[in-house]
Amino acid sequence: MFSGLAGRYRVFNRLSSLGLDRQWRRTLVENLGPHKRVLDVGTGTGDLAREMLERYPAVQVVGVDVSSGMIAEGGRIKGPSPQWVQASAERLPFVNGSFGAVVSAFVLRNLFMGGILKVALQELSRVLEPGGRLVFLDLTRPSNVFVRWGRGLYGRTILPMIGRSLFGKNWPGSYLESSIRSLPSPQELSELFLANGFIQFECQPLWGGVVSLFIGKK
Ligand SMILES: C[S@@+](CC[C@H](N)C(=O)[O-])C[C@H]1O[C@@H](n2cnc3c(N)ncnc32)[C@H](O)[C@@H]1O
Repeated sequence: MFSGLAGRYRVFNRLSSLGLDRQWRRTLVENLGPHKRVLDVGTGTGDLAREMLERYPAVQVVGVDVSSGMIAEGGRIKGPSPQWVQASAERLPFVNGSFGAVVSAFVLRNLFMGGILKVALQELSRVLEPGGRLVFLDLTRPSNVFVRWGRGLYGRTILPMIGRSLFGKNWPGSYLESSIRSLPSPQELSELFLANGFIQFECQPLWGGVVSLFIGKK
């Protein structure tokens, strides 16, 4: 799906988030702090990795993605870039404990929808060093009824217009909205994290819960 969207993926993000996606990624980077070696899972065109490299130039960032199209698009962007690796989060080509931290933006829902979240968590825990942190950022369903209504209205009206005008027949219809609705609750995610290689889990809603940070510790 993402290879078909790669060419206009970043423009879609900027327009559909009203430019907030960069701010959200920066919040993740600030929350994590500097580390020697960081894995960006589902790096796509490398936007999160780039935020990390701009904030902490000494960090070594490895960006992993299954989509060769997204990686190729990311490789065309000027400026600092991660070390690109094409692989799936289910099976990572790295030795145990090789990263101080794992980060990821807008990928948690994809792992859940693909039915591989449990295996991916085990694999991410395996490549993290003991005490290492994982920080996921993703779109979430606000708990406040008014914020949720406004967000839902936006998702049913303006978002599809932007999607169809940029991607035409490749626009994946209701996938974005249904993946937000389907994401397990913070309590369910906590149980999943604690059962699959993590000793701590925390969910931090941002922007009224339109997005959230999910933080795990190995
Ligand atoms: C919504 S994009 C997010 C890209 C990037 N993280 C960002 O902040 O813009 C989701 C990315 O996750 C990748 N992805 C989906 N499933 C994956 C998996 N099992 N392993 C690695 N990457 C995956 C997709 O190819 C896509 O590039």
